[in-house]
Amino acid sequence: MADATGNVDAKDYGFDTPQKNSAYELKGAGHYDWGMKDRLSRVFDPKSGKTVMLAFDHGYIMGPTSGLERIDLTIVPLLEHADCLMCTRGILRTVVPPTFNKPISLRCSAGTTILTELNEECIGVEIEDAIRLNATMMAVMVSVGGKYEAVTIKNLCKMIETGNRYGIPTLGVTAVGKELVRDARYLGLASRVCAENGAQVVKTYFCEEGFEKVTAACPVPIVIAGGKKLPELDALKMAYKAIDQGAMGVDMGRNIFQADDPIAMIKAVKSVVHDNAKPDDAFQMYSDLKGRTF
Ligand code: 5RP
Repeated sequence: MADATGNVDAKDYGFDTPQKNSAYELKGAGHYDWGMKDRLSRVFDPKSGKTVMLAFDHGYIMGPTSGLERIDLTIVPLLEHADCLMCTRGILRTVVPPTFNKPISLRCSAGTTILTELNEECIGVEIEDAIRLNATMMAVMVSVGGKYEAVTIKNLCKMIETGNRYGIPTLGVTAVGKELVRDARYLGLASRVCAENGAQVVKTYFCEEGFEKVTAACPVPIVIAGGKKLPELDALKMAYKAIDQGAMGVDMGRNIFQADDPIAMIKAVKSVVHDNAKPDDAFQMYSDLKGRTF
């Protein structure tokens, strides 16, 4: 217990130095509360302002897709290289060692699989379990313009509402769907809808034409999904263009874990995202590391 008497006199008040208020630079986040900012700075590296999230939540709609058959064997060795892990609670509890202390973007919406009709989702993980799992961010799919638009936006709003109560950011994930065109007009609208409803981060797709309009009109950080596997150089080019046009990171899955050398690939992607490496240089890095990393 602290003593009430006989303490050294307090004297270092720094009268000449006014206390500074630190600026919080992440896009749109300046007025958030401390816990929300703290969580977001675990996702977005405060030095570069960017993130390389490793997505391996595909099983919740696709089952054991290529590269994710044995997450313990293929993904766990990659975890230390990722800035943030995007996964379901099932995989988190059963396979991801809790000793990594990496920020978790927890998949919280759940619903139909590729066997039926995608995008009919509900809230599959309630806030209590997200907190119990120490989730840093909660991810909810929204199908803007799709058959399940209203219900999925309702899911997003509910998660944002409860996330705000506890200072946990929500990631709005714009849907894929046969009827949804991935052009700047659609992606810009879908991303903006997520942000207007209060999502603190938006995940969407890159498009070749007009992507800078998508990021400019979205008041919160955008991270891009990688989509189907591309040749490694093409995936690095896509990441480069997305960052160059205003994305704050990638939330990439198949283009990392289905690469010939996933560890070399995630390192190359990080050099693009955090260090502005040009795609050719990053590909050279990938080629140099390929087969050497384990
Ligand atoms: C799966 C997802 C994935 O997290 C997202 O698509 C990113 O992975 P990929 O880069 O493989 O597209 O939302 O439902």
